[in-house]
Amino acid sequence: MSGAINLSDTIEKYLPAELGGFMRLAGEAAAGRKQGFYLVGGVVRDLLLGQTNLDLDLVVEGDAIALGQALAQARQAKITAHPRFNTAKLQWDGWSVDIATARSESYARPGALPDVKPGRIQEDLSRRDFTINAMAVYLSPGRYGELIDLYGGRADLERKLVRVLHDRSFIDDATRIWRGLRYEQRLDFQLEENTLRLLQRDVSMLDTISGDRIRNELELVLKEKLPEKVLRRAEELGVLQRLHPSLKGNRWLSEKLAQARHLSHTSPPSIGIYLALLTYRLSGQELECLISYLRLPKSLSQVLRDTISLKDTLQALADPELKPSQVYQMLHGCSLPAITVNLLACEASTASQHIHLFLDKLRYVKPALTGDSLILMGVAPGPGVKQVLDLLRQARLNGEATAKRDEQAMVSDWLARNRIKVPADKSNVERRHEP
Ligand code: CTP
Repeated sequence: MSGAINLSDTIEKYLPAELGGFMRLAGEAAAGRKQGFYLVGGVVRDLLLGQTNLDLDLVVEGDAIALGQALAQARQAKITAHPRFNTAKLQWDGWSVDIATARSESYARPGALPDVKPGRIQEDLSRRDFTINAMAVYLSPGRYGELIDLYGGRADLERKLVRVLHDRSFIDDATRIWRGLRYEQRLDFQLEENTLRLLQRDVSMLDTISGDRIRNELELVLKEKLPEKVLRRAEELGVLQRLHPSLKGNRWLSEKLAQARHLSHTSPPSIGIYLALLTYRLSGQELECLISYLRLPKSLSQVLRDTISLKDTLQALADPELKPSQVYQMLHGCSLPAITVNLLACEASTASQHIHLFLDKLRYVKPALTGDSLILMGVAPGPGVKQVLDLLRQARLNGEATAKRDEQAMVSDWLARNRIKVPADKSNVERRHEP
């Protein structure tokens, strides 16, 4: 089957000339070292689909770092080498390519990272996840552009199928379960019948994978254009429940994720917003379990916690009698994504009006007077300054103070009221510093 198809025209059509030129140069350099050199993985799949993918994964049958160093010199590129994995990343003028040593892999036990040995391209392709990702293109001069398709990847692309290479694939590496769902939904493909059966058989293998690796997979899902499709399918196949049994990939989630995109129209919503919508239905305790299982970073965990605690405030926030200062009190200090998520999630229109009011107006309200000006007016440095600033902000929020002089009058009042409490025997200076 190999050699029947040549993709050099497709490469020219869908990849920038700079990358095409680099691949030819690199193929020649590798040939000079008597090493086979190939384009592999997702970019080959996407070329066959007529799509541009700039994430070039290159494989050499030999030392990737040594070849990378020679190529880095030729292109004046920055090289980042990982001797442990024998890989090198080259970056120049905004371009970036990864070079790896062809390898064979074996798994000591399910979920473990594989034992790796240098190998030939055939072995390297045989360790891959799906037929559509297990194709390569020769880059050596003379064979430049020839497709290597040992597992029928091109036919599966035509039939729109995601198919594993062998029956132990998900046992070897259960992250492929999430990967399979991602490709199926992204490309509008189907899991091939036997692959689907194996996935359902091996879904419990997800528990053999470390939380860090699962988090990584989940992040990749949330970076997809339409993550809700993957999450819905993940629920259908019992995959989502392996993250936490209370998670749902239902219509509500689909709608909310789409609304989040609509709201942030310029760039895709942050992972925090998507994840907080996914975890919205969890109790505080359930959320803590998930946070520690996935070892989520601090700031992301805070967004999720803020979201859930704000959810408990929504009922109070729906009270039409609330003063603006009370709305402010309930919402300030919460992370912005947590507020956005609650805005998306809340059905109560008064609560959403209050959140809009906070986002559009209240959060920007500040008194005209500063801490320094309060001290000059006689407020003692210390907690009293904040107390008065808070009072002034409250007055501004509720429209009770609209100009600087209103604030000055309030401060004078406050000083007068607080001076009353000063014992008569204290000196004037001391009194001035009494809060
Ligand atoms: N791969 C694999 N098993 C995994 C992860 C990766 O076999 N668990 C292989 C696949 O051949 C994949 C390649 O490594 O194509 C590169 O991995 P990655 O960059 O994650 O995948 P892409 O195919 O480039 O996917 P995407 O389009 O999502 O970036």
